[in-house]
Amino acid sequence: MTKAEIAVIGGTGLYSFLDDAAEIQVDTPYGEPSDRIAVGSLAGRGVAFLARHGRDHRFPAHRVNYRANIWALRSLGVRQILAPAAVGALRPELGPGTFVLPDQLVDRTSGRETTFYDSGAVHVSFADPYCPIGRAVALRTGTELGLDIVDGATMVVIPGPRFSTRAESRFFAAQGWSLVNMTGHPEAVLARELALCYTPIAIVTDHDAGSGIASAVTQAEVFEVFARSVGMLRNLLRHALAELPTEPSCACRHSLDAMTLPHPLP
Ligand code: ADE
Repeated sequence: MTKAEIAVIGGTGLYSFLDDAAEIQVDTPYGEPSDRIAVGSLAGRGVAFLARHGRDHRFPAHRVNYRANIWALRSLGVRQILAPAAVGALRPELGPGTFVLPDQLVDRTSGRETTFYDSGAVHVSFADPYCPIGRAVALRTGTELGLDIVDGATMVVIPGPRFSTRAESRFFAAQGWSLVNMTGHPEAVLARELALCYTPIAIVTDHDAGSGIASAVTQAEVFEVFARSVGMLRNLLRHALAELPTEPSCACRHSLDAMTLPHPLP
């Protein structure tokens, strides 16, 4: 069985990452993940790569099978996930091309499958939704590489596939939230529900409609800016992967301690 300890879930525009990789079709109790998973090694680490939307972007954010994706990665041995994603900025100072490491999220999605535990009493802590060690490694690495990288932001996750109205976006900004995106939930909570470390890496692709900079975001803009940032993103991922500790001391791994699970973990 091919194994990997770290996964990258590539977002819009990041459809391949590993050079010499075996492609594995994984099935899960929740159905099939978005695509075959590439498993290889990088910087001496076993690494899996999964295109969140599928390599041809056939699954928009509201159609991604997040449960199958996270389950499949854990079944390959993955314990840490780096999760790059395109985001809109709600603050004028966060310009396109800026890398941001969110530390909080607000879920405004609906109609998505958000748990592996539809029976039993499994209530994971989610006060701090992201891995503190993964965030620290990404920040240090990004800074060393000279990236424009910001530590900390609240990211609101909307259902999509449409972008926000100006009024919605102004409302988000007025709450003090900094970023808006369509995929950040339930991906993060599902990782927590399988005791995985999860580190989002947000790349600002646009000023959202209510950010204070007169604009109306377009899909073309999002794809174009992300494409321009992909080189730097790959560099950041390569270096961060190498630096992630093999046995992190964070609480993520203990999210299920002392709980009675209705089914075994993969
Ligand atoms: N992803 C990239 N830009 C976005 C925006 N403005 N709103 C929601 N998701 C996005």
